[in-house]
Amino acid sequence: MNFETVALDDKNSALVIVDQTRLPGEVVTLRLTRQQEILDAIRTLKVRGAPAIGVAAAIGLYLAAKSICADSFDAFYREFRAAKEALAATRPTAVNLFWALERMEKVVLDSRELPVLEIKRRLYSEAVAIREEDIKMCRAIGEHGLKLLHDGDGILTHCNAGRLATVQYGTALAPIYLGHEKGYRFRVFADETRPLLQGARLTAFELALSGVDTTVICDNMAARGMQNGWVQAVLVGADRIAANGDVCNKIGTSALAILAQHYGIPFYVCAPTSTIDLNAATGADIPIEQRPDSEVTEMWFEQRMALEGVKVYNPAFDITDNALVTGIITEYGVARQPYGESLKAICEQKSAQE
Ligand code: MRU
Repeated sequence: MNFETVALDDKNSALVIVDQTRLPGEVVTLRLTRQQEILDAIRTLKVRGAPAIGVAAAIGLYLAAKSICADSFDAFYREFRAAKEALAATRPTAVNLFWALERMEKVVLDSRELPVLEIKRRLYSEAVAIREEDIKMCRAIGEHGLKLLHDGDGILTHCNAGRLATVQYGTALAPIYLGHEKGYRFRVFADETRPLLQGARLTAFELALSGVDTTVICDNMAARGMQNGWVQAVLVGADRIAANGDVCNKIGTSALAILAQHYGIPFYVCAPTSTIDLNAATGADIPIEQRPDSEVTEMWFEQRMALEGVKVYNPAFDITDNALVTGIITEYGVARQPYGESLKAICEQKSAQE
């Protein structure tokens, strides 16, 4: 894959992304220079996946700040806040978006005594750091996750938690990529992931390009694959993890976790610490994005698939009860039950290193 999921072209003041709505048919690189284009790209899932959204938001906010013409800190900060709020309103669930925006704002507030030009320089460094850290976090998740897998394992995954959802490696796909590099012969089952087909369009695309044995299944076929004995582990990503270990991820994840428990298959969630939200006590505190009806009734087929005017329910995410989660694989290692303690310890370890 010789393209970037999400990058900064500072010379041309552009956010560079591959347009994920065009995959797998066409690989189209977009260079977005206007704020409205960046907001639309996040909202319409041209760039998507929790970590990639965070990186895109950080770069987007840096570019907004760079274009502000202001002599005083107060004037600069007013425009910066407006740009931050616009980015924060693009999608509600993936906490990485808010995490990245908060980091960028902290840079501004910590530099208020400095000239505006210097604040802009520091914002550049922070956006670049957020992107670089994502690569390191995903690689570490891959290393920790690979220790839990075996050569020849069948792995079921949902949505896209791969390179296209991050800067490199992915979260749930990182152990698969690292194992593949070492010669492990994994067989991956990619749920198609209705309604937007991130599994069929994106996961199968990136795994197949990397030479990983990949089979696409419809979402309702997971139980059949498990009954056949084809699945030794389920690996998924996350958009937000509550303090008690409840996991918010792409709609359909919770059903998979219930199936995995029934068939005695380990269910692992792979996510960087930037996805953990200790302010959300349980999954009930996580806002779930509702998306347009048309995604369910009209997309991907030549004819609409449901009668015009029929009622539609289209939540983009669901909550998996922490009791169903075998482990949460982070860049600091694997958190296990009780998650209230293990996640807190991992976050404290992270703060101590910062
Ligand atoms: O709506 P999307 O495509 O942004 O949802 C993405 C997911 O749910 C992923 O599983 C999650 O962000 C983990 S990404 C490493």
